[in-house]
Amino acid sequence: MPLIQWSNKLSVNIEAIDKQHQRLIDMINELNDAMRQGKGREVAGKIIDGLVSYTRTHFTFEEKYFAQYVYPESEAHINEHKHFERKAAEFRRDFGKGKLTLSMQIINFLSDWLRTHIQGSDQKYAPFFRQNGLK
Ligand SMILES: [Fe+2]
Ligand SMILES: [Fe+2]
Repeated sequence: MPLIQWSNKLSVNIEAIDKQHQRLIDMINELNDAMRQGKGREVAGKIIDGLVSYTRTHFTFEEKYFAQYVYPESEAHINEHKHFERKAAEFRRDFGKGKLTLSMQIINFLSDWLRTHIQGSDQKYAPFFRQNGLK
């Protein structure tokens, strides 16, 4: 059973962004499976690296349109991205140093954050992006 399931409730009705969100969800589910199956630290570390790096790619994509369309709530939204990135980098660092075991608490943090962010802040920019022609 995947930890997070994609559903229409998570859609922003913009194809490229929905695809990116689906990929992030897949990565979190992959991390959850790796933990449950007791896969080694090396495997989990690689998945976290992939997640950190793909998160940056995705945030950059959204932020590019904030700048291009002059989105009025850009600053608060970018701060949410930064906060998430700081937390994820901290997990990665502690995990790499062996200070942290991959726990449900961490995976829950990542998945809750993603779900809440998509259903809150991301869905908020969606009508504005669509008005500006992004489909
Ligand atoms: Fe997003
Ligand atoms: Fe976002």
